[in-house]
Amino acid sequence: MVEHSASIFDRRLLVVTGKGGVGKSTVAASLALLAARRGKRVLLVEVDAKGNLADAFEHRQVGYTPVEVHPGVLVMTLDTEKSLREYMHINLKIPIFGHLSPLARALEFVATAAPGVKEILTIGKVLWDVREIVEGRSEFDLVIMDAAASGHVVAQLGAADSIRALVDVGPVRAQTEWMVELLSDPAITAVNVVTTPEEMPVAETVDVIARLRAETAVPLGCVIVNRVLPELFTTHDELAFESLNQPSGRESLVEHVGSGSIAVLDAARLAVALRRSRAEHLGELRADVDLPCLYLPYLFTRSFGLRVTRLLADALDEEIA
Ligand SMILES: Nc1ncnc2c1ncn2[C@@H]1O[C@H](COP(=O)(O)OP(=O)(O)OP(=O)(O)O)[C@@H](O)[C@H]1O
Ligand SMILES: [Mg+2]
Repeated sequence: MVEHSASIFDRRLLVVTGKGGVGKSTVAASLALLAARRGKRVLLVEVDAKGNLADAFEHRQVGYTPVEVHPGVLVMTLDTEKSLREYMHINLKIPIFGHLSPLARALEFVATAAPGVKEILTIGKVLWDVREIVEGRSEFDLVIMDAAASGHVVAQLGAADSIRALVDVGPVRAQTEWMVELLSDPAITAVNVVTTPEEMPVAETVDVIARLRAETAVPLGCVIVNRVLPELFTTHDELAFESLNQPSGRESLVEHVGSGSIAVLDAARLAVALRRSRAEHLGELRADVDLPCLYLPYLFTRSFGLRVTRLLADALDEEIA
């Protein structure tokens, strides 16, 4: 049980990042499900336009308008163009209907060309929703952001700061200041890094934590170690498997059980080797990272979707006080 994260769901923004493919979206969905079980109304935001976050709830794809995919969990997929339209509509009072206006097209060009602008539209939209919560105007209690992978998340979370460094005057300052304030407040925001007990994900985790600390003011939450292998065998079992793996053992296995049974020995060996190597990487992670770690099991299931999301939410429930 991790004491530090006792109030994790009392924050207003949980950012989830990590190396590509480690399970960021699955973990973000499970966190959302658990928060909903604990009585929160959650806005779960997918920031890249893959649009498959709703799969975790076995719901059809969701666009920019939040859709309740599960009781208490609403999913939306961020879209730079729609954020820009909404921004212009709210801030510049420009009604934009139908196709993009020439002005929006011009700004859209800026948005994709200038460094930090696309990112500010992403993080700006997310923080807009966070501010609505903080100021008591939202139907939500919590925003969970399925953020960019670790290679890009520093730019994404640091966008408001970088833009402010470039244009430190007038409205730009005012419009980025509140973002930086929300993002750097540990009572409001926590960035959580998902990893797996493997070499590259662990190295990237150590690296992104160092970069977030060095280059941004965002508070770090915890490291979520996904796909941890269960201990299938004790040392005693392992010795038994090894003696079965001797020529005489193999012969009698083939004789009594059939030639297919040899595969079981190889599988046992593989399971032990995998667990050992993962235990080493877990050790390195613990040595190099000073954040609380939560552990999620490797699920051996053929079905994905809501079942996996539920099982991982159950596991998180035990890990989060
Ligand atoms: N603990 C687990 N046990 C088994 N399978 C898992 C586990 N966690 C995630 N998966 C599966 O791994 C796959 C990748 O997960 P997911 O899409 O969440 O990763 P991601 O980090 O969001 O990837 P991307 O970088 O592409 O966005 C999915 O099929 C998911 O169901
Ligand atoms: Mg993902």
